[in-house]
Formats: sequence, C-alpha cells, structure tokens
Amino acid sequence: MTPNTPFLSQYGPWALVSGAAMGLGAEFARQLAAHGLNLVLVDVQAEALNATSAAISTQSGVETRPVVSDLATPAGLSAVIEAASTLEIGLLVNNAGVSAIGHFLDVSLEKHLKILELNARAPLSLAHTFGAKMRERQRGGIIFVSSGSAMVGTSYVSAYSATKAFNLNLGEALSEELHPYGVDVLSTVVGATDTPGWRAENPNPEAKTWPPVMSAADTVRETLGALGKTPSFFPGAQNRLAMFATSRLMSRPAAVRVIGAEMRKRYQKEK
Ligand SMILES: NC(=O)c1ccc[n+]([C@@H]2O[C@H](COP(=O)([O-])OP(=O)(O)OC[C@H]3O[C@@H](n4cnc5c(N)ncnc54)[C@H](OP(=O)(O)O)[C@@H]3O)[C@@H](O)[C@H]2O)c1
Repeated sequence: MTPNTPFLSQYGPWALVSGAAMGLGAEFARQLAAHGLNLVLVDVQAEALNATSAAISTQSGVETRPVVSDLATPAGLSAVIEAASTLEIGLLVNNAGVSAIGHFLDVSLEKHLKILELNARAPLSLAHTFGAKMRERQRGGIIFVSSGSAMVGTSYVSAYSATKAFNLNLGEALSEELHPYGVDVLSTVVGATDTPGWRAENPNPEAKTWPPVMSAADTVRETLGALGKTPSFFPGAQNRLAMFATSRLMSRPAAVRVIGAEMRKRYQKEK
C-alpha cells in the first residue's frame, strides 16, 4: 500500500495491537484501520479475536492478521514476534494488561508474576524488537497503555499499579531516546474507561462517578491525537484535573493514604 496520509507514512503500513479482541485494544484496531493501517491483532481470546479481526477487515478493507497468543508466556511472546517478523510494523500498541484486586498477600504469587510478565516484560520485549526496526527505518511509533494508578502507589492493585508506572516511565524515556530517529513514543495514562475488563471489575458500572467513565472511542481518539506531540498524555479533561489534584495539590504520602482508603473501601465491599 502506498502511504498517502501523514499518519500512514509515519506509522504504516502495519500496526501491531496487543489485547485486541475487545475493549481498548479492539478500539485502537478500529481507529487505526480507519487511518488505513493493516493490523496484526494479538489476544488470548481466540473466538473474540477472530470476530473482531474479521469485522474490521470487512468494514474498513484493511488486511488483518489475528494471532492467538498468551503474551504472559515467553513462548507466546516469541510466537507474536515470529508472526510479525516479515511485516513492516510501523506502529506498536502495547495495550494488553491485567490486574488483580486484593490485598498483596491474598493474591497468589503466581498471579502477581503473570501481571509482571504481561504488563511489563511483554511491552518491553515488543518495544525492543520492533523499536529496533523502526530506528533503522527512521520512522514509526510506539504506544504504552498506562493507567492513572501509575501516578501513585495504589493499594489493593499494588502489582498492577507498579507495572503501569513501569510503562509510563519506559514510554517517556523512550520518547526521548527514539525522537532523534524519527520514532514517536507515547505513554497514555488511561482513566476509567468502559470496556469488558472494566465492567468485570465494577459491579455497578452505571453508577455516577467523578471523574466520569470515558468511552473507549474517546480514550483512543485522544491518545492517537497526542501521539508524536508529547511523551505522556492523560485522556479526558476531568481525568487531567483529578491527576493534577492527586499529584500536585496533595503531598505524595497524603495521596497514598487517600487513594489507599478509597481502595480499601472498594476491596472490602467486594470481598
Ligand atoms: N478500562 C479501563 O478502565 C482502564 C484504565 C486504565 C488502564 N487500562 C489499561 O488498558 C488496557 C486495556 O484494558 P481494557 O479495559 O480494554 O481490557 P479488557 O477489556 O480486559 O481487554 C483486554 C484484552 O486483552 C486480553 N488479554 C489478557 N491477558 C492477555 C494475555 N496474556 N495475552 C494476550 N491477551 C491478553 C484480554 O483477554 P481476557 O479477557 O482473557 O483477559 C482481553 O481480550 C490494559 O493495559 C489496562 O490495564 C484500562
């Protein structure tokens, strides 16, 4: 495909999106297809992934390649790298991520290590592999999907919060290192967004909250709009206000306590 828009010439012809069967990953895939990018779509959920992949290809006419793989395992990670090895991946969206709500010691070590593998090892490995090729080509982009919980150690999702801080810092640092090579890197610090994963963790998804829950379409549209403009970005004006309050108006110990108290209430309710 001949690149014919600035977006396609910087980030085409292929994007690789992890966790693409549903939620934010599927929305990244839809919006990138609308920009004309072909897609390698990775997820552990075979049926949902194949359905998302087929629907996007039919609706947008781009080529889609579903890769069913568990990115929390070294074999799954290698399979994804192998599946994309002959394609020119111009944009990598490190989106797949999992969390576990609970007291650190009540969540199994196995689960914590899975969170670490998927949320930290996989995005780092994919960025290293595909980033090297982007540096050679002197163009491309990498998005790390972080979370508001990256901003301060968040109890009862402790390992998740730590991995999201890892993504935030890794993306910011790489934006500086890869900028001279024409590669744009962005960490998107996502707030509550209505996805299947978010609904599974929220027994009352229709409850009014502040900041309000965003749609996946808005979170992704704002994120793609920020790519190439800044090292890190917070989708949603009200999320930005909330982040400002907890990271600038409160001391760090106060933020840890206030957020910890909120999380404790939620954890105890769900227990
Ligand atoms: N939604 C929010 O409010 C929110 C807020 C802040 C940050 N985020 C971040 O945004 C990203 C996407 O979240 P989401 O809410 O869209 O999640 P989601 O609705 O749960 O969708 C994520 C997809 O990734 C898949 N996945 C899970 N483990 C995987 C693995 N080991 N290998 C490959 N695929 C795997 C999931 O499959 P399963 O169904 O089997 O898990 C699911 O299909 C995550 O990194 C999350 O931390 C989300």
